[in-house]
Amino acid sequence: MIKAIIFDLDGVLISTDELHYRAWKALADRLGVPFDRAQNDRCRGISRMDSLEIVLGRSPVKYTLREKEAFTAEKNENYRSMLASLTESDVPEGVLPTLALLKKRGYSLALASASKNAPLILERTGLGAYLDAVADGNCVTRSKPDPEVFLVAAEKLGIAPGECAAVDDALAGVEAARAAGMLAVGYGDSTASGAGDINLERFSQLAEVFTVPGEPVKS
Ligand code: BG6
Ligand code: MG
Repeated sequence: MIKAIIFDLDGVLISTDELHYRAWKALADRLGVPFDRAQNDRCRGISRMDSLEIVLGRSPVKYTLREKEAFTAEKNENYRSMLASLTESDVPEGVLPTLALLKKRGYSLALASASKNAPLILERTGLGAYLDAVADGNCVTRSKPDPEVFLVAAEKLGIAPGECAAVDDALAGVEAARAAGMLAVGYGDSTASGAGDINLERFSQLAEVFTVPGEPVKS
């Protein structure tokens, strides 16, 4: 009996997963470390520092913590320069009308993202206007697959986790949603594909699944 839908950000509400890839790739190229899209898929949903460990996975060099902090800062500065030109027109087709429809039907909507850049992205794209609560990398200490960020989002909404569905493109996100006791919706064609209780390819399919708040979902 779902009353709220909680969304991941990067790779679900907006295609910033591609910008994360470009920013990590630029760092990897500068360091002379091979880095490809398959490795980038493993960075989905996990924290910036954990992602760096994946980026450096094929490096023969052992870096100090201070060097690693400088690398994440370099990547983030490059990533944020890409975010600076984001506008509402960068939100993938179908996302805003679907969010508006789900809200009109009475579902509460929230964000649960590992990203510390979520406030900037929500503000630049106008996505923030559709959300009743936001939980992001600035308000949690443990990253997905830990359920913390989804539980914080549900708490901010004042809705029990068992009455929430969570939509994520990352395997870590689907696992986090399940660990939170939520209905896990795997989204997109990357790592979450096939891992959820429900799996969707197109964002607009959410409107076919979630028709009336508090009533069984149509799987
Ligand atoms: C997640 C992304 O949403 O946020 C990860 O899927 C990323 O790839 C993580 O590492 C942290 O993002 P940021 O913007 O704080 O570096
Ligand atoms: Mg994601």
